[in-house]
Amino acid sequence: MSKSTTPASASPAIELAGVSRIYKRGGETLHALNRLTLTIERGSFTAIMGPSGSGKSTVLNLVGGLDRADEGLVNVAGEELTTMTNAGLAAFRADRIGFVFQGFNLLPVLTALQNVELPLLLAPLSRKERRAHAIHALALVGLEDRMHHRPRELSGGQEQRVAIARALATDPDLILADEPTGDLDRASADAVLNLLLRLNQEHGKTIIVVTHDPKAAAVAQRTVHLDKGKLEKIVENTPRGEPEVAAGIAEDAPAEDRAEG
Ligand SMILES: Nc1ncnc2c1ncn2[C@@H]1O[C@H](COP(=O)(O)OP(=O)(O)OP(=O)(O)O)[C@@H](O)[C@H]1O
Ligand SMILES: [Mg+2]
Repeated sequence: MSKSTTPASASPAIELAGVSRIYKRGGETLHALNRLTLTIERGSFTAIMGPSGSGKSTVLNLVGGLDRADEGLVNVAGEELTTMTNAGLAAFRADRIGFVFQGFNLLPVLTALQNVELPLLLAPLSRKERRAHAIHALALVGLEDRMHHRPRELSGGQEQRVAIARALATDPDLILADEPTGDLDRASADAVLNLLLRLNQEHGKTIIVVTHDPKAAAVAQRTVHLDKGKLEKIVENTPRGEPEVAAGIAEDAPAEDRAEG
């Protein structure tokens, strides 16, 4: 039920080519990303890991059209974001992307249902249709019975599932999650990861999760490791969903690249 007119085709979901994001402060130049080239296939589940400050959130924000690259090309679902107008980027975000954040970012005065309905206000839908889409999204995350609760009446894990329902409300192809389990206890984190896995496997969503959680990397098909704004390595997680496999991948490649130009 997407109203998008972009040719979906078999092209990769995401292509970053020589992407830099550069911050200048005083006399210093910081490369948050330094000529990063990366392809992420449609329908895949990718984890992004790396030390604090390695550029993980920057990648997600560029792919989601929340930020703009200073160099290089960012192609998402056949659309070149680097040449888009601000209005075009806003429409792209509203239509194609679902964001999930560490701190849930739910509005406290709204019920779960109203929070999930919010992104649908931008869509050409009647009130009734909006409600139906939102209830459908809440059912997907197993929280139909909590839809009239406000965030403070929910557990952290439930809040994050509402946030995922909100990300799903517009039926985007691409879900971008920045440390979605960072504020959750193990059991709630696992529920969120299982939900993301199900959205990938059963609903064909392309998922990118920035994470420090080895279990999140274990449910992913591949883990992209960043270091100082550069690609350090990509680890394929062949027997997917088995935490043992990904448990040892974290910290063994001593890529000694100076992240600076
Ligand atoms: N608005 C900004 N102004 C200046 N520097 C920034 C800005 N946003 C990010 N940076 C810098 O860019 C680098 C990459 O930041 P980014 O947020 O992508 O890191 P990260 O890998 O997500 O880290 P963390 O694990 O701590 O969330 C960091 O050195 C950060 O300080
Ligand atoms: Mg970050």
